[in-house]
Amino acid sequence: MADSSVLHIWGGHRLQGHVKISGAKNSALAIMAGSLLCSGDCRIHNVPLLVDVERMGQVLSALGVRLQRHGDILDINASDLTSSKAPYELVTQLRASFFAIGPILARLGVAQMPLPGGCAIGARPVDLHVRGLQAMGAEVQVEHGICNAYVPGSSRRLQGAKIYLDIPSVGATETLMMAATLAEGETIIENAAREPEVVDLANFCIAMGAKIHGAGTSKISIQGVSKLHSTEYTIIPDRIEAGTFLVVGAITRSDLMLSPVAPEHLVPVIAKLRDIGVTVIEEAPDCLHVLPAERLIATDIETLPHPGFPTDMQAPFMALLSIAEGDSVINETVFENRLRHASELNRLGADIRVKGNTAFVRGVPMLSGAPVIGTDLRAAAALVVAGLAANGKTTIQGLHYLDRGYDRLDFKLQQLGAKIQRVKGSVLDSQETGSITNSEPSIVPKK
Ligand code: UD1
Repeated sequence: MADSSVLHIWGGHRLQGHVKISGAKNSALAIMAGSLLCSGDCRIHNVPLLVDVERMGQVLSALGVRLQRHGDILDINASDLTSSKAPYELVTQLRASFFAIGPILARLGVAQMPLPGGCAIGARPVDLHVRGLQAMGAEVQVEHGICNAYVPGSSRRLQGAKIYLDIPSVGATETLMMAATLAEGETIIENAAREPEVVDLANFCIAMGAKIHGAGTSKISIQGVSKLHSTEYTIIPDRIEAGTFLVVGAITRSDLMLSPVAPEHLVPVIAKLRDIGVTVIEEAPDCLHVLPAERLIATDIETLPHPGFPTDMQAPFMALLSIAEGDSVINETVFENRLRHASELNRLGADIRVKGNTAFVRGVPMLSGAPVIGTDLRAAAALVVAGLAANGKTTIQGLHYLDRGYDRLDFKLQQLGAKIQRVKGSVLDSQETGSITNSEPSIVPKK
């Protein structure tokens, strides 16, 4: 059920301080799926505290996997991978759980995975995952919303194959790379996704004994092995969380330090911030410093697969560009329906027109607080970013999206001095009762 909590933000204040960036959501989800390849213990460090991670854990538990979390460490043991059937209610809530079809099929020779379905940002089919598994010898049929896959023959082992992806899909690359680690012979994935999270998953698999070359390039080759072994692995920092905090610093004209980060994963984001007039300094190999900008200047953005500008940063950048001087054009090329935050930003006083997959942003001098609704994860983040810059009070609904992908965002912002308060219950109740769910001390706004 959707969480009816709301976030109140009293914006227009500068922030200051250091923010600790959590482990990457998209790595954590893929690596949790990848742990199914191994029948021993896997210890994963730097696992972010997110609803999506919790849900992925529930999917794995339903398959017979044992999980234990201590702080940011997650212990996973898939020696009793007893079920090949993932639960419908969970997979439909979390697209990344579909990626587990690759390792389940590789380990058991059979997998039943409900289709993840469409979502707010677009249709998001899984045809590339299915075609790749078929190329590796699996029989795959989709019936009654379930993707039934099995490997024929007595060995029940997938066969290495040459696979070309029509689109460099992150999920399809990960599903097929995982499946190929235990296949017989060599698999080559052409036009593979090059995202840092694909590389992180590959490194995790390599740590378990997989033979993978070329992750991070558009051609990945995998030499199948018969078994993988236990390992301990640390997830990379979340580049989208880091990028969001850089935008927070830019829009509130604040002095913020971020670590740990991998600046090489943030090249397009930092380049665009510099275009806009924001100073970002690499203080150390894992530390970025964003400084208050005198002027914010319009720029154009086109989202692309990595190393292009990430679609997951498009919404927060739209919030930033809404107060940049001049006209900006944002072209979303990765997902077909990912500009819905434009109308909510307009409620905050932005001047944005959307035509097809392009948003035309005319910079306004300032935003003003209003009630708004997050329509997906990054859209909700964009509203938080905008709310921090807007004069007066912004109330954001749709926090169940935010909590899927940002590790205690409101708490981290409070630590930087933001006047932000999470309130449980309906919007009306919350305004009347003001019960705070956050266990951390919050800032009482000056009326
Ligand atoms: C992953 C990320 C998500 C990010 C996206 C693009 C995870 C858990 N999520 O999602 O945060 O926004 O990459 O960087 O890692 N497509 C097909 N057929 C397929 C698969 C994909 O047509 O079989 C299309 C999609 O509809 C989309 C495009 O390919 O238009 C890219 O999607 P993809 O890279 O697969 O995204 P995800 O892996 O779902």
